Amino acid sequence: MGKIILTGDRPTGKLHLGHYVGSLRRRVELQNSGLYDETYVMIADAQALTDNADNPEKVRQNILEVALDYLSAGLDPERVTIFVQSQIPELCELAFYYMNLVTVQRLQRNPTVKAEIQLRGFAEGAAEGDTQQRQGIPVGFFTYPISQAADITAFRATTVPAGEDQEPMIEQTREIVHKFNAVYGPALVEPEILLPDNAACMRLPGTDGKAKMSKSLGNCIYLSDSPEEVKKKVMGMYTDPDHLRVEDPGKIEGNTVFTYLDAFSRPEHFAKYLPDYASLDELKAHYRRGGLGDVKVKRFLIAVLEETLAPMRERRRAFEQRIGEVYRMLEEGSRKARLKASATLRDVRKAMRIDYFEDRELIDTQEKQYRNEQ
Ligand code: TRP
Repeated sequence: MGKIILTGDRPTGKLHLGHYVGSLRRRVELQNSGLYDETYVMIADAQALTDNADNPEKVRQNILEVALDYLSAGLDPERVTIFVQSQIPELCELAFYYMNLVTVQRLQRNPTVKAEIQLRGFAEGAAEGDTQQRQGIPVGFFTYPISQAADITAFRATTVPAGEDQEPMIEQTREIVHKFNAVYGPALVEPEILLPDNAACMRLPGTDGKAKMSKSLGNCIYLSDSPEEVKKKVMGMYTDPDHLRVEDPGKIEGNTVFTYLDAFSRPEHFAKYLPDYASLDELKAHYRRGGLGDVKVKRFLIAVLEETLAPMRERRRAFEQRIGEVYRMLEEGSRKARLKASATLRDVRKAMRIDYFEDRELIDTQEKQYRNEQ
């Protein structure tokens, strides 16, 4: 059996460094490794609409932004099929059948859904005077883990590179596959998640030191930020609030600048930009001892980030001159993705015994049966 990757992002904004270390960097590495037979990367607009029903224009505008971020990061449409979720109607049909295999109670226990219900203010019965939305939980939003199972299984994905927030989704997908195969016969492939390999990449904090980079918190560094924006954001970054004078000992834990260095710095960056230190461990040791100022570490981080961001910016500039081509690439990717998904759907329909018109035997048997009765 082939090794197949499927993963994706919601087009609700430009992609940031959290997306990059959480999954995008991995995808580019996997693409270049040649170890996978097929790779699909999906712009999950239908999923984005499950909690942005009132803002279709935002989703529409960000399809291109995310596509440009993908191409700038180094995804190559020759090797990776980049497509738009809503253009594959087969995914809806799969999700509709999977809905019979999942209980409301199971969805309610999904930790990511739970957290998002809180975050989005979807929970009903909020206190009086509460400014949060109170219209309750949209059914489409509530069932999006099922739709995500359809995304993954439609492509027979073996591997889903994603951050840890996606773990409950993959778990739910595996359960659906299990149930489907047990009930209807083995038509579906059970996927595995491929998590980032270090804790800093798992959940990159925002520049303010808050748990997660998120657009609504305004603590993101975007892949498309200018060198000036990156510099300004890094210089304003949260460090150790007790590290007041250079000679004070400093803390590494919870110090965002060091967390970013964990995620981005490589040994060769030291030789190139900070030759007084052989490694990140040495730099951390000096900071802990005291005598190392934040500004010096921040300058180093800017240089390190620019190693990643500068080539991206350059590629982005080139693609920005060819928007029509970018859309054609998405259209072609969606066409290819649809072929794959409809082949899976054919197998699913057959396994579910709803392939009436393709099943000569069904027709012959019933024909005979009725003839004999006469
Ligand atoms: N849920 C993912 C996110 O919020 C996007 C997504 C949709 C996805 N379908 C997927 C990711 C399938 C991996 C596999 O970013």
